[in-house]
Order: sequence, then C-alpha cells, then structure tokens
Amino acid sequence: MKAEALKELLDSMSLAEKIGQLVQWNYAALAMTDAEVTGPETLRLSADAMKYFGSVLNFSSADEMIRLQKQYMSGGEHPVPLLFMMDVIHGYRTAFPIPLAQAGSFDPDLVRECAKAASAEAAAGGVHLTFTPMVDHVRDPRWGRVMESCGEDPYLSGIMGAAQVEGFRGKDLTDKNALAVCVKHYAGYGAPEGGRDYNQAELSEHVLREWYLPAYKACLDAGADMIMPSFNALNGIPSVANPWLMNQVLRDEWHFNGTVISDYNALDELITQGIAENRRHAAVLAMNCGCDIDMVSGCYASDLEKAVRDGLISEEQINTAAMRVLKVKNDLGLFEDPFHGASADPETVGNLVRQHRTLAEKAAVESAVLLKNNGVLPFAGSVKKVAVIGPFASSREIVGAWCCNCDTSETVTVAEGIRALLPDAEITAVSGCSARIGDKDGSMINEAVRAAENADCVVLCVGEEMECSGEGRSRASVTLPGMQAELVRRVTGANPVTAVVLFGGRPLDLTEIDAVSPALLEMWMPGTEGGTAVAKLLFGVAEPCGRLAMSFPKSVGQLPLFYARSNTGRPKQVPEDEYQPYCSNYMDCGNLPLYSFGHGLTYTEFRYDELRPEKTVLRAGEDLNVTVRLTNTGKRTGTEIVQLYINDKVSSVVTPVQKLAAFAKISLAPGESGEVRLTVSSERMRLWNFSGQSVIEPGEFEIFAGYADHPLLTRTFTVI
Ligand code: NOJ
Repeated sequence: MKAEALKELLDSMSLAEKIGQLVQWNYAALAMTDAEVTGPETLRLSADAMKYFGSVLNFSSADEMIRLQKQYMSGGEHPVPLLFMMDVIHGYRTAFPIPLAQAGSFDPDLVRECAKAASAEAAAGGVHLTFTPMVDHVRDPRWGRVMESCGEDPYLSGIMGAAQVEGFRGKDLTDKNALAVCVKHYAGYGAPEGGRDYNQAELSEHVLREWYLPAYKACLDAGADMIMPSFNALNGIPSVANPWLMNQVLRDEWHFNGTVISDYNALDELITQGIAENRRHAAVLAMNCGCDIDMVSGCYASDLEKAVRDGLISEEQINTAAMRVLKVKNDLGLFEDPFHGASADPETVGNLVRQHRTLAEKAAVESAVLLKNNGVLPFAGSVKKVAVIGPFASSREIVGAWCCNCDTSETVTVAEGIRALLPDAEITAVSGCSARIGDKDGSMINEAVRAAENADCVVLCVGEEMECSGEGRSRASVTLPGMQAELVRRVTGANPVTAVVLFGGRPLDLTEIDAVSPALLEMWMPGTEGGTAVAKLLFGVAEPCGRLAMSFPKSVGQLPLFYARSNTGRPKQVPEDEYQPYCSNYMDCGNLPLYSFGHGLTYTEFRYDELRPEKTVLRAGEDLNVTVRLTNTGKRTGTEIVQLYINDKVSSVVTPVQKLAAFAKISLAPGESGEVRLTVSSERMRLWNFSGQSVIEPGEFEIFAGYADHPLLTRTFTVI
C-alpha cells in the first residue's frame, strides 16, 4: 500500500479503532485457550474493550494465525490485518545454539544464516515479527537471561545483533521468509542489582553511553523495526516511562522513527512499582514516552480513549503511534497478503527443519568452547568402549530456553551422536545423578564410576537444566547444581581419560571441578544437533574454535565481572593467586575470571609472528588497518579467532584497560602461515567525556593481539 493510502486509511479510522492498533493481546486470552504464555496470565477485559486490537503474541501454529486473521479481518469496517509476534530467539522448530553461544563463534555470517533459517521456519509457522535480537549488556551470570544476550562486550553484541537483524529481515520484508524484528530490552535490563531478574539498575549516563546503549543503536542502524523498553527501573524509572531514554535519546538523538512496544504487562506493573497511580496514569505515562504498543496489560484498551477525551493525551499522539504500527504491517505487505506466506500444512515447516539440520550442527560446533585440555582430547576414533555419563548424557533437553516452538523430540542426544559416529564401539550411557538444584541424591554415582572404570574414555555431561536459565531464572550461586561436582570428582578419579562436557545457559563457577577435570568443553545449550556436534568435537572429526563471549568467574563474590574493567589507582601487581595489601584485590580470591572473555582452545597451536599497524600516527577519526601474521605450529588444521584489543593510555576519563577493537577468523593447515587484515574503526577509539560528548582524544593507544588479559603481541599508535 502506498504511503498516501495508508494515511487515508488512518484518517478513516475512529479513535477506538486507532487505539486498537496500539493494543496487543495474548492468543490465549483472545481464543480463551490455555496456550502457552510467556508471562503472567493476561487480563481478559470485557468483550467490548477487547473488540479492537492490532497485534497478537504467543500462538502456536500457522493454522491458529490464519484462523484468527480471517476472523478478525471479516469483522470490522476497516479490515486491518493483525500483526502476529513471537519470541523466535534462537530458532523456531530447529533449535540453534543459544545467542550467548552463537556470539562466541565470533562469526556474524554464521549468526546471520541461523537467523535466516529461523525466520523461514517461523514465517511459515505464521509469525510476522520476532522479539529479537536481545542485546542487553551483561556482566553477571546470576541473571538467567544472559543466555539470550550476546555477552559482555557491546562491540561484539552490536555486530551479532545486527547480523540477526539482517538474517531475519533479509532484503525485503514482503518476502514470505522474512520477519520484522524488535530489539530489546532498552536499556540496562542486563544490570539488575544482585543479578535478580526484574530488579532495578543504577547506571550512570557515562556507563550507559559507553557500555549499555551502543548495541541497541547498532541493531537500529541495521534496520530493526521495533524496540522494546525494559520493564525494570533504570536510575529510578522503568524504561517504558523514562522520558530521557525514550524521548531524548531514542527519538531526538537517534532519530528512531519505528515502533516502540512495551514489555509484557509493563504498563500495569508501573502501578506495582509505585510510578503510576492507576491504569489510566500508566497509559498516559507510557504514551507520553512514545510507547506505541501496550503488550497485554490492557491499560491502553481500557483507559486511553478516556485519557484522550479528558485532554491528557492528544489525538495527534494516537495518530502517530497508530501510523507506526500500520507502517510495520505495510512494510511486511500484510495489506496484500495478511498471512505473509504462512502455511497451514505442518509439513512445510518440517521440510525446512530437514534442510536446517546441517546448519544447526555447524552452529553448535562453532559455538562450542574448549576451555581446558590436558591432552586427552581429541579422543581416538578407534576406542572400543565409551561411557557417556551424567544428567545430559541422554537428554534431549539441550535446546535452551526461548525456543518456544521447537520440538525437543527432534534433538540428537550426546549418546546418540556418539553411537552414530562410532557404530562399532560399545557405548554405555548412565546418568549418575540429576542436575536439579538442591538434589542431594548421590546414590547413582557408584554405577557411573563403574561405567567409567570399564571404559576406554568417558564423556561426562554435566551442567544446568534448560529451565535454570531464561526469564525469571536467577541464581544466587552459579556452581553445578545437585551432586554433579561430586560426580565429576569421582568419575575423573576413576578414569583420567575423561572429557567434561558442559551444558547450560550461563557461565558457571567451575572452580571446584576445574582442577580435577582433564578437559572441559563448554557446549552451552547447543540445540537440535547438539549431540552430533559433541561427538564430532570430542573425537576430532570437527575442530573446536569458539571463544567465550562472557567471562567465567572464580567465585560468585567477584560478580559483576567483565574483562573491560577500568584500572584503579592501586592495581594488583602480584601473581593472581597472591594477595597484595592496600591494593585493589580480594584476600580470598583472585581478581581475574577463571576463563575470560575471548578464551577458547583449539586442537592445534598458533604462534603470533607479527602485529603490523599500517600507521603509527593517525588523525582523529581515521581508521587503523592492522595486519596480523600467524603460523599453525601444531599437528592439526585449526581455526583461530584473531582478536585485537586497544587501550587509551591517557584520557580525561578512566578508560578500560583493554577493549575489543576488531576480530577475524583464519583457518591454517599444520605448518602453514597466514595473515589477516583487520580494521580498527575510529569509533572504537571514542570515549564519553565528562561534558557528555563522544570524542576521540589525542594521545597514545596501545594495541594488542591475543585475548582478554593475554596479550601476545603489542604495539602502540598515536592519535593526533
Ligand atoms: C517478556 C520478556 O521480557 C520479553 O523478552 C519477551 O519478548 C516478552 N515477554 C514476550 O514474550
């Protein structure tokens, strides 16, 4: 539909119809079904108050979407199609690794491909818009939603978030495989105090500008259609009612003209938070902050029309908001095809799933991080007896939270993956114990020890259950739940040819098991082809190459923890395991993570030969090209993720001791040397100064290749 026709449509709508565009309901509330919802049960207003609405979330099939769309469009004077939204976070039916894992591939092309595949399945399943990407900046793994994020570095998060936007949206939203996207949760949702979900965050403007805001902006720049403010209080005000964040930064500074949707029931929660007196007040606060769509609270449905009549909100505000919603519908081509190519035939999605399995396996392989290897890995493919032990040995629940429509019966378990790879070997699978929080039952550990003693090698699959991470899944301790640490101690004691394979949605405190584990492979929640990927990685058919997108603490007491820390005036200067009085350190724990951001081993070794900046003197605003030369000195082909970090040596505000500035991937055969050329954008040299400006200050910068706290080659350059 042309812009003029859209305007004519808006002009012809009544106030109630226009407000209807701003109302979103759960499918369950509309269809009076008990379909899955992703928050508290939605309010059911009177039939009259629920007559007009513009969008729906949480439905389960194309069939449901098509039926409701037909019914709604045949009902009113203006047949405006509904917009159907869903959390397609890391897959629709095929589960790809969780976003935190995917970010660790350091491969935006791969992330884009996974998003594209998820998009095709979801679009066939009736979805028009996904609540993705989630690019909250995270530093605290107690918060269960770190699994949805792209980790602790805003530059990496921005790149991965933008790749997701591109993958979902494609080149043209009217394409039947494309989804519109909603970036979330703007802003500071990833910094809840104590790591407890929904809790308040207190972040200075300086910290927000440097760390918390950039990734959202990167996603908007990549074309995100919508943005969702966070529902926790940021500096005292829940984001949906925060004029600074919503009006000043988002609309005036960033010139975002797309749609804003509240988070689930966020308007009503303004009352509980003590910001709004009642539902009408909540509706007015949100509308005045440019919130176009009210997700399920019903405050707009019940109170907005009266607020307009009472002069608290102008009709012009309603027109602007309704037009933004109509525009997304129009961009998707819903006026021409309200079903957006969805297919009621479940086989359509099934066929796509079959096509996407290879990609799911590749993503699981490239997202896995080999944390430790004393030489046991890779296992020899000629082994005769393999014991697959642990609560995740035969589990299909390794897809991760927020894969709402995925079918776990399609997941390949670790035991199945190994059986398929080694058809002639004898595979014994035992659980040993459960992964449930608080489970004290260790009675099955003896059986696991016996299986380990009788095997040539052991694959020990431990971690956190799928339900331990995701929304509302905060933990005060981030160690292995239940009796699993004991299981690891006993099994590794029984057979030293053991690889501990970790599953879960957050960095865990592995201190207790690290010392006794010969090898640690972090699989995160790897998705549908998780078991295949584990088998291929452990037996050397695939090479590990992923890196951590989030640091693993030595102790929960270190949290929040992140690699890009600022220096203190009294930095610790003694070895990590020693204590230095009157310096910034702990008496009972080191300062550094157990495994830091950017860490990850391969089955080979790389020697960094040369770090060559193209220039050593730059004008402010110029990018810096850097060449890194390296050699594979090991015995196997491997892939290295070359990472460059910078440090602004003297500046008007304290800057981080290291900050990721560029990265690239290179594969080299044994003995082979190669070069990668990276560009450090001048944007990476910026800082947010005390006068509230983003500037590049002249002076010397240090640049190193390596990973956090592990510089391998260092050079300097000067900005004039
Ligand atoms: C609440 C979550 O915070 C948000 O991420 C999600 O998109 C909505 N519920 C819808 O399910």
